[in-house]
Amino acid sequence: MVHSLLLVAALLADCIAAAPTSHVIHEARDPASVSSRWVQKGRVAPDALLPVRVGLTQSNLDRGEEMLLDVSDPDSPNYGKHWTSEQVTDFFKPSDESTAAVKSWLESSGFSDLSLSDNKAWIAFNAPASKVESLLHAEFYEFEDSVTKGKAPSTHAYSVPKEVQPHIDFITPGLKLLPPTKVKANTFGAARRAPSPPQYSNYGLSTCDEAVNPDCLAALYKIPKQTLTPNPANQLGLYESIFQRWDPTDLDLFFTNYTHGNIPNGTEPVNKAVDGGESETPHHFVSITNGGEIELDLDVAYPIVYPQKIYIYDEDDLHYQRVDIANLTTTFGFNDLLDALDGSYCTYSAYGETGNDPNLDPKYPDPEKHGGFNGTLECGVFKPPYVFSSSYGGQEVDVPIAYQARQCNEFMKLGLQGTSIFFASGDSGVADLPASEGGDSPTGCTGSNSNYTVFNPAWPNSCPYLTNVGATEVAPGATVGGSDAQPEVAVFFPAANPENIYSSGGGFSNIYPRPSYQQSAVEEYLTKHTPPYKSYSDLAKIVPNPAKVNVNELQGKTGGRYNSAGRGYPDVSCNGANATIVIHGEALLESGTSQATPIFASIINRIVEERLAAGKSSLGFLNPAFYKNASIFNDVVKGHNAGCGTNGFETATGWDPVSGLGTPDYPKMLAYFMSLPSGGWNSTSY
Ligand SMILES: *[C@@H]1O[C@H](CO)[C@@H](O)[C@H](O)[C@H]1NC(C)=O
Ligand SMILES: *[C@@H]1O[C@H](CO)[C@@H](O)[C@H](O)[C@H]1NC(C)=O
Ligand SMILES: *[C@@H]1O[C@H](CO)[C@@H](O)[C@H](O)[C@H]1NC(C)=O
Ligand SMILES: *[C@@H]1O[C@H](CO)[C@@H](O)[C@H](O)[C@H]1NC(C)=O
Ligand SMILES: *[C@@H]1O[C@H](CO)[C@@H](O)[C@H](O)[C@H]1NC(C)=O
Ligand SMILES: *[C@@H]1O[C@H](CO)[C@@H](O)[C@H](O)[C@H]1NC(C)=O
Ligand SMILES: *[C@@H]1O[C@H](CO)[C@@H](O)[C@H](O)[C@H]1NC(C)=O
Ligand SMILES: *[C@@H]1O[C@H](CO)[C@@H](O)[C@H](O)[C@H]1NC(C)=O
Repeated sequence: MVHSLLLVAALLADCIAAAPTSHVIHEARDPASVSSRWVQKGRVAPDALLPVRVGLTQSNLDRGEEMLLDVSDPDSPNYGKHWTSEQVTDFFKPSDESTAAVKSWLESSGFSDLSLSDNKAWIAFNAPASKVESLLHAEFYEFEDSVTKGKAPSTHAYSVPKEVQPHIDFITPGLKLLPPTKVKANTFGAARRAPSPPQYSNYGLSTCDEAVNPDCLAALYKIPKQTLTPNPANQLGLYESIFQRWDPTDLDLFFTNYTHGNIPNGTEPVNKAVDGGESETPHHFVSITNGGEIELDLDVAYPIVYPQKIYIYDEDDLHYQRVDIANLTTTFGFNDLLDALDGSYCTYSAYGETGNDPNLDPKYPDPEKHGGFNGTLECGVFKPPYVFSSSYGGQEVDVPIAYQARQCNEFMKLGLQGTSIFFASGDSGVADLPASEGGDSPTGCTGSNSNYTVFNPAWPNSCPYLTNVGATEVAPGATVGGSDAQPEVAVFFPAANPENIYSSGGGFSNIYPRPSYQQSAVEEYLTKHTPPYKSYSDLAKIVPNPAKVNVNELQGKTGGRYNSAGRGYPDVSCNGANATIVIHGEALLESGTSQATPIFASIINRIVEERLAAGKSSLGFLNPAFYKNASIFNDVVKGHNAGCGTNGFETATGWDPVSGLGTPDYPKMLAYFMSLPSGGWNSTSY
């Protein structure tokens, strides 16, 4: 039980004295640790009906990474043998033994009408407070949230019989008291935009250092024209959020002017509405910012994946992202998306969290959904695409640890099922946006006890089961294609405001340790190219909500700026500077890791297409294969990722926390993945 670290000695002594020897304390807290926001009122009335949920211990939570590597490490005999969603649910659900033990305890204590959730994660029943108190040897008090005036029953400690304790994760109502919290969010790239001067060529390679057209991308990464007939199982998946609208006329103008007539007018993405989210607005385009992310994604992806289709998974929910730069008290999350892709996630328990978080995720019916949504939360309505790209995120330090850990665990489960997931690594180098742009501190750095000098890793990027994409640019004056072409460099745009530069997001997690697949690459960087800053190496513990990473505590007194023990990111990179796109009838140049990510994802979509055509499996989680063959990348060795008033990290030969392993070399990458085993379903049931 993770909760054991909350145990308080004095309290422990008290409760043990009161409890028969067969009961043991399951969760307890120091009453003084309750946020002052909550005011403790009187005892809950004995006859008040409490809705009780007993979360059962999930199986194999600690074996997920091992299983993921089993299907994604090229040296594993099970490479590519991805699991079905049923196999994943079965592997992680509580054991029948746990269900039986808890049921028998409750029934023998006189509780009936027990209901078991679909994925067997928890047992629910309603009972009067007095009966619950004697079941759990607890005293329930009413607590009032002084801000919202909401009331919730809670106890400072509860106990369960010794023999059932191993089968119980946590019980509610219990210790949980969660005031609503807010998380910031960014789209990476939408704000960096300039008109495309008419002298740039729509075609050819003569101005790639100033304006990147589809020919430049094809030449940079040696991507040939697609000749395969699209496999109906292999659409490219793009995640989008609130107010992102693509316009059919804009797409047609782009196809007409930049694709050599290869993509016909009328080619359109398919909207996969997440809980009613929309993405198309042909006739009521509100402002030019509205298409900044989605049209960038479509304009860079289509020339690579066409004639394959693009699916847009559109969240379109104000609850998840307010376009309110001035206030920026935005919540943000991917839970509804993950629920829609995997029905079992809707009620999945991990790290003390079951299902969506009532304080971070939308409630249904959901009036905050653009246009309102009167349905219930959608669970498992879409089959996960084989390749998925997202250019949204925030900072690790802003999101409750348990919330992000449960979500990270779900990315692992999608990898197990054969999905490759890409996230943009962020546009602020080693920092967040500065306070003037909505960040937490003047420089976008974190760590208040060192006056905000600690680098600020991004979320969900630090999750070890994602592939993070950083950004590169064609150096000014450099040529593309041909034998004298110069390699790309790490992106760097200075800005009028010295804090608000654009550089490739990168760094090291404060939560997740360095995963085995990048062990030697990261170690080589840290020893051969040791950054000129002090570091620290304590990681945050995964404790129940609402605890967040306390950087001051991790950093201690070392004055360190980064966590040398954490998962390093990005993993790879791609061009993220001055892509030519069409918005609102105009040609514009837009930049960001938001540009780099759909390009990389499109290239993987093409490789999956080739594997499927050869009767092989999709690629799933890519990092173990990537880190085992750096030769399929163009190493990026020039540039750094400034932020926090520093130069950030420097690029280097091999992996670095600016450009990862480098940019793709399509022919080499294709040869490598075609040489790996066919895979196919692993029908073993665990
Ligand atoms: C590329 O974009 C950056 C940032 O918007 C800008 O400073 C730079 O001038 C652009 N390059 C060209 C050639 O327009
Ligand atoms: C495609 O659509 C664009 C934008 O409406 C238009 O300018 C162009 O003429 C169309 N091309 C064809 C072949 O219809
Ligand atoms: C910021 O929040 C306040 C209070 O919720 C609201 O009145 C104001 O309109 C918001 N500002 C912007 C720019 O949306
Ligand atoms: C949702 O239900 C409310 C109340 O019945 C209604 O006013 C609203 O129009 C509905 N919204 C949608 C999108 O159907
Ligand atoms: C922290 O930095 C600010 C300016 O960035 C400065 O004014 C202040 O004195 C510093 N505080 C400490 C304790 O160093
Ligand atoms: C498309 O090309 C035409 C003809 O060269 C030009 O007039 C028009 O401005 C271009 N539009 C865009 C959005 O690039
Ligand atoms: C890396 O990929 C190339 C194909 O691009 C292949 O020739 C080589 O054997 C691979 N190396 C390893 C270590 O798998
Ligand atoms: C499936 O994976 C398990 C665990 O690695 C392995 O023991 C089993 O042999 C595999 N089954 C097949 C058919 O490859």
